[in-house]
Formats: sequence, C-alpha cells, structure tokens
Amino acid sequence: MNRKYLAGIAAASILTLSLTACGGSRGGGDAAAEGGSNEGAKIGVAMPTQQSERWIADGENVKSQLEELGYEVDLQFANDDIPTQVSQIENMINGGVKALVVASIDGTTLTSVLDQAESQDIPVIAYDRLINGSDTVDYYTTFDNEEVGVQQATSLLTGLGILDADGKETGAKGPFDVELFAGSPDDNNATFFWNGAIETLQPYLDSGVLRVPSGQTDFEQAAILRWLPDTAQDRMEDLLTVGGGERLEGVLSPYDGLSIGIISALTSGGYSTDDLPVVTGQDAEVGSVKSIIAGEQYSTIFKDVRELGKQAVTMVDALMKGEEPEVNDTETYDNGVKVVPSYLLESEIVTVDNYEASLVDTGYYTEDDLK
Ligand code: BGC
Repeated sequence: MNRKYLAGIAAASILTLSLTACGGSRGGGDAAAEGGSNEGAKIGVAMPTQQSERWIADGENVKSQLEELGYEVDLQFANDDIPTQVSQIENMINGGVKALVVASIDGTTLTSVLDQAESQDIPVIAYDRLINGSDTVDYYTTFDNEEVGVQQATSLLTGLGILDADGKETGAKGPFDVELFAGSPDDNNATFFWNGAIETLQPYLDSGVLRVPSGQTDFEQAAILRWLPDTAQDRMEDLLTVGGGERLEGVLSPYDGLSIGIISALTSGGYSTDDLPVVTGQDAEVGSVKSIIAGEQYSTIFKDVRELGKQAVTMVDALMKGEEPEVNDTETYDNGVKVVPSYLLESEIVTVDNYEASLVDTGYYTEDDLK
C-alpha cells in the first residue's frame, strides 16, 4: 500500500472557503502564550482502532507528518474499547503532551479526561469524529459528513439506474427493493451520513420507486454498534428472512467493513456475483476496492485521509506557535455545549469507472495494492 504523503495531491478536494476561527480558546498552551517555544513538543494522537485500515493510515499519517515538523508523537490505538481510550488519553496528559488529536470511539465519553487536559491548558483537536458534550474541544477537522451520506445514496440511485451518470432522473419506476444500514449510534458521524442519505432517498421512498421490504427505515433499526462487520452480516442474514423473499436490488451501507459483511450474507443467502444487489460503502479500503473491481460491491466513498492528517497537523502546528488555526465552517458541528470551529474536506464517489483516476493516479494506492 502506498499511502505516503504526497504533497499537492487532491488539493482540489479541499474546500476553498476560508474563515478565521473566532473564539479558539487555548492557542498553544503555556509556552506559546508566554512567548516560549513548543519546538519538539510531544503531541498525543488517540485513534479508535486498528481493525480498519483507514484508522491505521490516519494514525500513521498524522504521526509522520508531525514528526516531519519536529514534534515527538505518542500515537495510541484503543481497540474500540472506551476505557482503554480514556486511559490512553490520561497517560498522554500525564506524559506531558502539549496538544491532543483525538478520534473518539464514543463521542460522549471523554468529558472528564478532557477536563484534565483543560486544567493543564492542553488544546484538543477532534479528528474526523466530533467529541460531544465537552467544552474542551478547541477545533475539529473532518469531511463534509452529510455530503458523504448524500454521495452514498446518490451512488445507490445511480447503481439502480434511477439516476444517470450526470445525476439526472432516468424515469425508472422500479419498484426497487432495498435495505438500509447505518453506522454506530455513538459516533456523531453516523447520524450525519444517515441524514444525508435519507434526505436523498426520501422522495423515491415516498413515491414507491424504492421499497424497503423489512420496513426497517429508522436509524435505530439500521444502526450497527461500533461499525462491526459481523453485526452487519448477522443483520443482513435476518433481513433476508423477514423480507418476504423478494430479491433485493440495493443495500445502503455506510462503511466498507459493513459492506463486506453484507455481501457475505448475500452470497451465503443465494446471490451470486452476477446478481448481487447494488451495495454502497465508505473509505475506499483495499478489500472493498478489490470487491468493486471484481464486480461485487458497487461503490465506495473516497475520503483522502492524507489530506485529513495534513489538516490536523496544520492545526496542531498553528496552536503550538500561538496562532489561530484556519477553519472553513463555524456553524455545522454543535457538540451540545458549543459549536466547534471546523475545517471540512470533500469526499468523492468511487466506482469501477473511476477508481484508477481517483485512487491509483493520485498515489493513494498502487495497481499492485489492488491485485
Ligand atoms: C468515519 C468513517 C468510517 C467509520 C467507521 C466514521 O467515523 O468517518 O470514515 O467509515 O467511522 O470506521
């Protein structure tokens, strides 16, 4: 896999709107505030899990980019276990980090450990997933998560032939039978993905062009705790038995790991590669890109984590120098206590038609990675 950071790539994917953060509370900790130096400071990077490639790549990108700027990095993965993540962050604080970059497991469980960070004037950047219910989140960098959901649903509609490649309605009447999956209910992003997707699908559900045989159209019914592929596989197996035997034509899946579980359930349930439903995804993980090339999974959403890492590192560096990080959204991400100033990146639908241009030509993967 070639995920080395390549300067300049995907610059077009970055939103250009540029506002300055208002109210970024703690810029750079004691040293910068007093005109001292944070050169070589230790930065804590807390990632949720190593069970998914994307988070491994995120962790490595942030670490290597911080190290290139001369920072020391304490990178930890929490195995999707909340107490582990809390104690890792505690250890980082006790170990003298000057800033924290945190991709949370459950966005509501970090309030008290982050209070410790606040008491030591350690700025906190929420990475990809918002940290909820805490005023100790200074900045947030992520993708436009609602748009990710819109893209997932749009690719489902395109795969079904309801929309053409230009996004225009073809007049296809269906009815097309589809089932819907959502992400982990404790991950703030999951609701954004779901809302974007459902808004896009709703007119077709209302008009009967799309039908959900199981009737399970609520987020709570569709959600998969901790984004676990096995849970998605089990749910898909159940759905195949409750739907009344209709052949499914599509499955909205919000993450490649779930898509793999869903496709396993479908193939054991009698579907062959030639007649699998249109299955969506997210993250452009290698296994799913291979599945797309093999004609199994239909689409994924490419989120260039090199760019996300770069953004987080730029924010840390600004804070360490006592400067205000650049943001481009000061409205969308309300964590229940404050609206967190954010920098949002753009994502892209990937199918068999454009994976080479999006993933190989940009150096995200090599051809060999995808063999
Ligand atoms: C991320 C997605 C990822 C999911 C599961 C979300 O918070 O934004 O990119 O697919 O977690 O890891």
